[in-house]
Amino acid sequence: MDATRYLTRGFRARLPVRYLLDSCEELYGDTGWSTRRAQDELVEVLQGQKDLDSYCRSFLRLVLREIDLCPSGREEISEDLVTLAAHACSLSVAAGDGTIAEVAEAAFEFEVGGVKHDAYVYISSAMSDVHLRVWDAGLFLFECILSKQLDISSKRVVEIGAGAGLNLVALHLAGAQSTILTDRNEIAVDNLDRVIERNSASNYARARVLDLEEEDDARRASDLQDADVLIGADITYDPALVKSVVRCYSLFLSADKSKSRYGYLAFTVRSSEMVDLLYSELQARGLKYSDITRAVEERRVRFLEYCRTSRTGKPSEIILIRIDPS
Ligand SMILES: C[S@@+](CC[C@H](N)C(=O)[O-])C[C@H]1O[C@@H](n2cnc3c(N)ncnc32)[C@H](O)[C@@H]1O
Repeated sequence: MDATRYLTRGFRARLPVRYLLDSCEELYGDTGWSTRRAQDELVEVLQGQKDLDSYCRSFLRLVLREIDLCPSGREEISEDLVTLAAHACSLSVAAGDGTIAEVAEAAFEFEVGGVKHDAYVYISSAMSDVHLRVWDAGLFLFECILSKQLDISSKRVVEIGAGAGLNLVALHLAGAQSTILTDRNEIAVDNLDRVIERNSASNYARARVLDLEEEDDARRASDLQDADVLIGADITYDPALVKSVVRCYSLFLSADKSKSRYGYLAFTVRSSEMVDLLYSELQARGLKYSDITRAVEERRVRFLEYCRTSRTGKPSEIILIRIDPS
């Protein structure tokens, strides 16, 4: 992948702006946007939008700042890009930018077997909308599913804490028979319904409320009864959720008398205490778990070189475990 593709791919997926520009520079030795081809592609993507949402505005404001800092003699800069950036700056002042959360469509573009695909999700500009972002561990799981190294083909899959719903398309391409995306409340599930519709997936996917903290919800087997695999990513971000997450896996696995069910859980290592708690809860419930991160990470289908969807300053450690009944 060259710098132009890197930049437009990250831009279309609405990766954090500063991170995108910095990682592009780190990888390709320049800011990426500064080549004429990258500018033209960005202008094309931007002109396809009805309005400039806050993400585009922030991106263009940063680009304008970089243009201002450009040493003279740098390659010519697209006038269209400068005009768009200047327009974005004038808008951001009038709109009191950043005060109101905006939700915008993001396209995650990837290739499997030489064929290009887009997975569409909706991303919020507010960090507090945890279900309207794609998190590092979620993107890692998405990449691992796409590489077909997980046992997904022909399976009926349920995802807990599905958030933005990015795995929907990956599961389908990995051969899942059906998918149920769940999250904690109606607001999150309304978004997942919208994602299913946007990706034309209603013939193989549904969205349901499943609040991990409600034992009845976790136990409610009606929807999960005929499922084979339970997956989740970054749902242990709050240590208070760890017990509920493990309970859900335990209920799901123990409800199957033939013991052919299993699960996958990807998580960002936010603290060693959280990891210890997770593993001790799994042991206490008599579940087997194995860390399969090393076995799958090399061959995963990488969306971008760095698996970072939030600007953390350093790459986060992500672990993927497979969970089986004892
Ligand atoms: C950090 S996000 C991860 C989202 C997605 N899996 C990803 O990795 O991009 C955590 C997700 O867990 C969901 N969540 C939080 N508390 C929950 C609960 N009690 N029951 C079910 N889901 C919950 C949030 O709504 C959010 O979608």
